Amino acid sequence: MKTKVLHMNADRIDDHAFDEASDILRNGGLVAFPTETVYGLGGDGLNPQAAEKIYKAKGRPSDNPLIVHIADMDGLGVLTDFVPEKARLVAEEFWPGPLTMIFRKSSVVPYGTTGGLDTVAVRMPGHSIALGLIRSSGVYIAAPSANTSGRPSPTLARHVHEDLDGRVDMIIDGGPVGIGVESTILDMSEAAPVILRPGFITPEMLQPLLGEVLFDPAVMDGAVDSIPKAPGMKYKHYAPKADLIIFEGSAERVAGEINRRAQRAVSEGKRVGIIAARETEKEYCFGTVKGIGTRSDEITIAQHLYAVLREFDEEETDVIFTESFDSGQLGRAIMNRLLKAAGYQIIRL
Ligand code: TXA
Ligand code: MG
Repeated sequence: MKTKVLHMNADRIDDHAFDEASDILRNGGLVAFPTETVYGLGGDGLNPQAAEKIYKAKGRPSDNPLIVHIADMDGLGVLTDFVPEKARLVAEEFWPGPLTMIFRKSSVVPYGTTGGLDTVAVRMPGHSIALGLIRSSGVYIAAPSANTSGRPSPTLARHVHEDLDGRVDMIIDGGPVGIGVESTILDMSEAAPVILRPGFITPEMLQPLLGEVLFDPAVMDGAVDSIPKAPGMKYKHYAPKADLIIFEGSAERVAGEINRRAQRAVSEGKRVGIIAARETEKEYCFGTVKGIGTRSDEITIAQHLYAVLREFDEEETDVIFTESFDSGQLGRAIMNRLLKAAGYQIIRL
């Protein structure tokens, strides 16, 4: 299959911009597109064959359900069986935006899209290209992140191209994404709301509407025995090819320990990568140091996390040492992804 790349400026979208992409979606094909979190790999969420194509293109296990994207509240009604009043308040406040909610599914949503579950994940993305594509096509777009299963999610169209060229009909290149980590997943299908995946929307932001909101125990601890409620969370994720180790502690100790280990690894002939905040990147003397963003504005770290992991892959890095970034609220989402990428290798100093 030849993959067509279509460039689009999110601020200047003309009337017919989505004609071809809409045809592809309506005919059961695949279109990758930008959202405010990461790029998505879209297909018709109500067409089981399209879902099957998505799983195949990503190389993803088909028991891992897809998020269905909508552009208005009517869409939510079509896809779900029951929407609690509180969820409507949350939607009013945070949609369109980086939040996915889980509900009991209606009968129109095929099990092929939900990985066999009776629930469906729904999100109204806050990105003009994503919303425009849903509206123009009239399709409820099922879209996982547009990476090969197990690789870091794509935050640039180039990343999608690396992973999916020849496997999708079209990639819409709308430039870099704004947030860089996937949406918060909030399970509203049971009595107490639970966060299955941390993201830009935090429990503190949801609390005024929902009261206390807890994380699923699997969120921060890879060692827990409980089966994660979001099936995707059980798979190894976001992983670079290199061995990745996280260091946590005072800036001084972390730099000292990373420098010691980096020096040793370099002397053993290994290619070493270091991920540091802009504030501390000058502290490192060995290997390739990448400043990921500034601690004073966490979103800059989220935005560059996956791209940096991909760059180290391209440079055939053997081992990556990284600072931890657990301050503030978005820090939880960043650390959740970093821990998974590291296979939970963290050294506390
Ligand atoms: O920001 C995002 O959410 C991006 C963009 C493209 O919208 N999408 C995304 O999709 O991250 P994906 O497929 O990479 O991650 C979806 C996660 C998986 O961990 C999956 O297991 C979980 O959502 N999920 C989907 N449906 C579910 C359901 N019915 N119950 C529990 N978890 C569900
Ligand atoms: Mg994903």
